Amino acid sequence: MTDNGAGSTKGVYEAVVRSNKEIGQRFYRLGLEFSGAGGETFAEARPGQFAQLDLSGAPLPSAGAIPEGLADAARRGIILRRPFSFCDVVRKDRKTQVEILYCVVGPASLRMKGLSGGDRVSVIGPLGRSFSVAEKKRYALLVAGGMGAGPLLYLAKVLTGESSKMEVVVFAGARTREVLPFRRPLDEISRQLGFSLGEFAEYGVKSQVATDDGTAGYEGLVTDCFSEWLGEKNLPARDTIVYACGPEAMLAQVADIARDKNIDCEVSMERRMACGIGLCQSCAVECKVEGSNESVYKLCCEDGPVFDSKEVILSS
Ligand SMILES: Cc1cc2nc3c(=O)[nH]c(=O)nc-3n(C[C@H](O)[C@H](O)[C@H](O)COP(=O)(O)OP(=O)(O)OC[C@H]3O[C@@H](n4cnc5c(N)ncnc54)[C@H](O)[C@@H]3O)c2cc1C
Ligand code: FES
Repeated sequence: MTDNGAGSTKGVYEAVVRSNKEIGQRFYRLGLEFSGAGGETFAEARPGQFAQLDLSGAPLPSAGAIPEGLADAARRGIILRRPFSFCDVVRKDRKTQVEILYCVVGPASLRMKGLSGGDRVSVIGPLGRSFSVAEKKRYALLVAGGMGAGPLLYLAKVLTGESSKMEVVVFAGARTREVLPFRRPLDEISRQLGFSLGEFAEYGVKSQVATDDGTAGYEGLVTDCFSEWLGEKNLPARDTIVYACGPEAMLAQVADIARDKNIDCEVSMERRMACGIGLCQSCAVECKVEGSNESVYKLCCEDGPVFDSKEVILSS
């Protein structure tokens, strides 16, 4: 496997907003451009790594554009930076364009929605450990819950890059069709058959969609969809790897499914983060100690956010 980004250069850089597009109910895609040293550093950003954005100075959207239920959030100030991972990174003309898929949930993401072309944002990154790119594996299975799709989209691009012979399949789940965080709405046929997410199809990656209410694809949990699919395919465990990003209960189930089949699995964890650089200890993740019943706490921001699923203690 390639190394996973730990120890790569990081710094504080200023990015210029190039785009900020609504792609669904409360879902947006922000395009940030880095030039100079920031451009060189972010060109090396790997799937699963993240950046800490300072959104304290970002403008609020107009009153009419503040979603219901977030009027209080609009009044709250922002002290801490917020972590976001990358759904794409492109190096062109000595500049690097980084894309972030985000959901508006509180004061910082609400201000993110207010950003427009030419605005400037202070960004610390790239931070943390990425997914490892398993060059010796033949099959990669990506399991995304809700916003977990962002970093897996970038991972899909890297895994299917030039000269790759890897077969990649993504399983994307959400409560309902409206909250699947993808650009193009599923057409009627895709909706019934539960495949073909345009963003993944661009990289030749097949998709399986699951919604809790059955409004798109498989009716039920994405983990059940994944487990059934895996049971039917009988892939060779040694040649297969699973990568997952989403709510912790989903990660726990994916880890169990992979363990039962003896398949390697990496999970991307989320914790509330204050510093993002290993100083404040606010992002503890309980991990097993090999060969004992003891556990230790590691830092999501530095030792993660991506962990081997056999290492972390996941709560379901
Ligand atoms: C490594 C990492 C990568 C992330 N990547 C993305 C991304 O690509 N796109 C995206 O939309 N979001 C991502 N997030 C989550 C994002 O950081 C939060 O949504 C953001 O901080 C919300 O800020 P806010 O001020 O808008 O809302 P807040 O008021 O800070 O949060 C609103 C609510 O969201 C929940 N929440 C916020 N952050 C977390 C968290 N870290 N863990 C669990 N629950 C949380 C809490 O329940 C909170 O009440 C990532 C988080 C981490 C740790
Ligand atoms: S966020 Fe401060 S140590 Fe991890």
